[in-house]
Amino acid sequence: MRDLEILTETDKETLELPRTSVEENNITGKRKLYIESYGCQMNFSDSEIVTSILQEGGYATTANFEKADVILLNTCSIRDNAEQKVRNRLNNFGYLKKKRPDLIVGVLGCMAERLKTKFLEEEKIVDVVAGPDSYRDLPNLLSEAEDGQKAINVFLSKEETYADISPVRLNSNGVTAFVSIMRGCDNMCSFCVVPFTRGRERSRDPHSIIKECQDLLDKGYKEVTLLGQNVDSYKWTSTDGMKLVNFAQLLEMVALINPTLRVRFSTSHPKDISDEVLYTIKKYENICKYIHLPAQSGSSRILKMMNRTYDREWYINRIDAIRNILGQDCGVSQDMIIGFCTETEEDHQETLSLMEYVKYDYGYMFSYSERPGTPAAKKFIDDISPEIKQRRLAEVIDLQLKLSLERNNGEIGKIQKVLAEGFSKRSEDFLQGRNDQNKKVIFAKENYNGATFRKGDYVMVKITSCSSATLKGEAV
Ligand code: SAH
Ligand code: SF4
Ligand code: F3S
Repeated sequence: MRDLEILTETDKETLELPRTSVEENNITGKRKLYIESYGCQMNFSDSEIVTSILQEGGYATTANFEKADVILLNTCSIRDNAEQKVRNRLNNFGYLKKKRPDLIVGVLGCMAERLKTKFLEEEKIVDVVAGPDSYRDLPNLLSEAEDGQKAINVFLSKEETYADISPVRLNSNGVTAFVSIMRGCDNMCSFCVVPFTRGRERSRDPHSIIKECQDLLDKGYKEVTLLGQNVDSYKWTSTDGMKLVNFAQLLEMVALINPTLRVRFSTSHPKDISDEVLYTIKKYENICKYIHLPAQSGSSRILKMMNRTYDREWYINRIDAIRNILGQDCGVSQDMIIGFCTETEEDHQETLSLMEYVKYDYGYMFSYSERPGTPAAKKFIDDISPEIKQRRLAEVIDLQLKLSLERNNGEIGKIQKVLAEGFSKRSEDFLQGRNDQNKKVIFAKENYNGATFRKGDYVMVKITSCSSATLKGEAV
């Protein structure tokens, strides 16, 4: 779901549209749309749905916000700093709106859903507020705004999955793509804003998922990542109630599309990841041996307060099952929240010792940020000082860097199948791709036999060196 590097937050950089779509669209002279996404991969995926809906609605896309008639920000609420980023960006757009009062600024996504009409009151620049389930209504909302009215739709649906919408791939490398398989979340982790911003969990019709993956394969894509807040609880029932598809079965259906199409998925939930899913991963060579399994804490007491519905022993049991069924080589990564309410030094040590036990390949670690309206905000006091949070976070990050380096050192000498995604950032003589375990691998595009590899190729690479974030090797 995210980049390989150790991150302290999920927010991604500005999303810009590919140049080709700009050139094509400029000819048409339609109204121009600029869209920017924040937060998790679900949001980036939703922006592709929004673009599809608005292209149908007569809009063309532009990569240059100064040329846009409509600017949309797809926002995230997961931590306070994610929201601050959006507010700063809105400030930046303020000067443009002064010059061009007809410019329409809309906010989409989780922050739109959380703040609702408050967004219109607090940020005068905003004309349109649209929650994650209201994107089909965007053409109407935008035309209301064009008529000079403020427009809002934050209705959350129990059914909407945008199953029939064919996403317009934005900023794509043409090799890997994300496919949303479900929406919302029915868990109530006490720290988390997502159930409030994305509503009830619902699973998308598997036939539309298979069709989207097949279309991607037909267009030359080589890898799909199935997306959901908790993919293991994917459950689709046909309208007559006769057919039921669970996540293991969906994974198998996608794996069977074609053995050359790699399959990944994110995010798995420790309470729901079943042995059936693990055996399905084992059965198919094209399902990647990599599991992102957020722990959030190593302390059972804290996990209980977080309402994660598993304890340390349960989590360790799931890790043991991964190691027993998929072997030591299976990649495992974590999310951790540091400094949750009442966290003691002992709890913190339990997080560190869990990390030592699992030997995570990498991780995403965050200081706890209280979110208004969540169960934790209502029931507990955010009582760990910023200094202590910072110090504990640094310890957790240091340990993860050490573990990542240990795990990566263990790859040296191995020959691994890498899907080349494009040139390395530093030089066009090198390709960059990912191995099965989702680790970034860099290798020269030409090997000693003179063979030249290209983006989209599967290349066998012998790993020769590493850092905590990257493997380097030679094509064999
Ligand atoms: N559905 C996924 C997580 C989605 S949010 C899951 O259950 O694992 C991504 C990550 O953000 C979470 O795993 C958690 O580590 C972090 N996060 C969520 N709420 C947070 C908060 N209030 N403060 C800090 N980090 C938070
Ligand atoms: Fe949030 Fe928990 Fe749902 Fe993940 S499973 S989105 S952390 S409520
Ligand atoms: Fe953020 Fe919403 Fe994703 S809060 S992390 S964009 S589900």
